[in-house]
Amino acid sequence: MSAISLQGISKHYSDHVVVDQLDLEVQAGEFMVLVGPSGCGKSTTLRMIAGLEDISAGRLLIGGRDVTHAAPHERDIAMVFQSYALYPHMTVYMNMAFGLLRTSKLSRSEIDQRVQEAAARLQITDLLQRKPNALSGGQRQRVAIGRALVRKPKVFLFDEPLSNLDAKLRTHMRGELERLHAELGITIVYVTHDQVEAMTLGTRIAVMDRGQVCQVGAPMEVYRQPASRFVASFIGSPQMNFLPVPAGAGVGENGLQAQFGDAVLQPGAVLGLRPEELHLSSATDSAEMPLSALRWHGVVQRVERLGAEAYVQIRVGSADVLVRADVDAALVTQQAILLTPELSCLRLFDAQSGARLLSLAA
Ligand SMILES: Nc1ncnc2c1ncn2[C@@H]1O[C@H](COP(=O)(O)OP(=O)(O)OP(=O)(O)O)[C@@H](O)[C@H]1O
Ligand SMILES: [Mg+2]
Repeated sequence: MSAISLQGISKHYSDHVVVDQLDLEVQAGEFMVLVGPSGCGKSTTLRMIAGLEDISAGRLLIGGRDVTHAAPHERDIAMVFQSYALYPHMTVYMNMAFGLLRTSKLSRSEIDQRVQEAAARLQITDLLQRKPNALSGGQRQRVAIGRALVRKPKVFLFDEPLSNLDAKLRTHMRGELERLHAELGITIVYVTHDQVEAMTLGTRIAVMDRGQVCQVGAPMEVYRQPASRFVASFIGSPQMNFLPVPAGAGVGENGLQAQFGDAVLQPGAVLGLRPEELHLSSATDSAEMPLSALRWHGVVQRVERLGAEAYVQIRVGSADVLVRADVDAALVTQQAILLTPELSCLRLFDAQSGARLLSLAA
């Protein structure tokens, strides 16, 4: 039984469809990340799970129970918002205890124990008597998480909880969230538009676009086997390169298509290759390659040496392609160069619809 089951969930505002018949199963103990561009419906989906937004159509089950129309407090969930939403006039202690004091039947000492335990886990015991305006952003975020923890809910919902923090603190808090998830074995649904957060935190990620889930899978599975050009371009940084099947390359006897291993390359389709899946060689090597080999001629525009690795921007026809290279590679601006793909990584997308036509990647 799934911890959360979204069955054909839709949300519309008058005739504007924001979430469109969305299906998603979240398993108990899973860290599910909903990721997608701004406006694709992530927060709306999360708020429907929380009960903060009416569900226009479909069914929502939490722990096997139909809660489609249940009030938020009947759902056994806790939500952590981007804005923290702390009560400014209350101490950290009261911010964490307040919900339990108001809605639970727990005794004062049981509540105290839960607050102390959560504070210790989040390393905010020293801050319990402070008010939120005397805290840093990271500390406020911990209080907001603590307030969720003390309720011991079945499911934690997070909406961009780290986006107000600076880069260093964000990385640190990512580690903290990972640790909490591992230690407590809790079920999390986490919304972000940041694909790095999705890749690093999710046990599975659901990539959303325009109110629908395009693909659900383990991060590396989605990275390697994107179901569409949209997913391919959204997941991965730097972005995947999209290259036209080069005219003449690999043209078979019928003049229309060619085989590379099991791959059939159709003219007009688009090849998707990540920066680490393209190899560079000197343009003069070109003569030694069989005419049918898949390759592109390009000119080096820029070499960015980042320390451990380098990224080379190469103009191919009218497109710019980014290739990861060795930092010590002798590459200079305006150098003519040859790009060849890792054949086992070939991914082919339909030029019009963006649907994936083929992949050889494991
Ligand atoms: N109350 C509302 N009335 C009408 N449209 C709304 C309402 N709330 C949200 N929307 C629209 O629903 C769409 C999805 O919004 P949502 O907040 O779920 O996006 P999101 O994926 O969370 O984006 P972001 O990454 O920017 O937070 C947007 O186009 C938004 O304008
Ligand atoms: Mg949002």
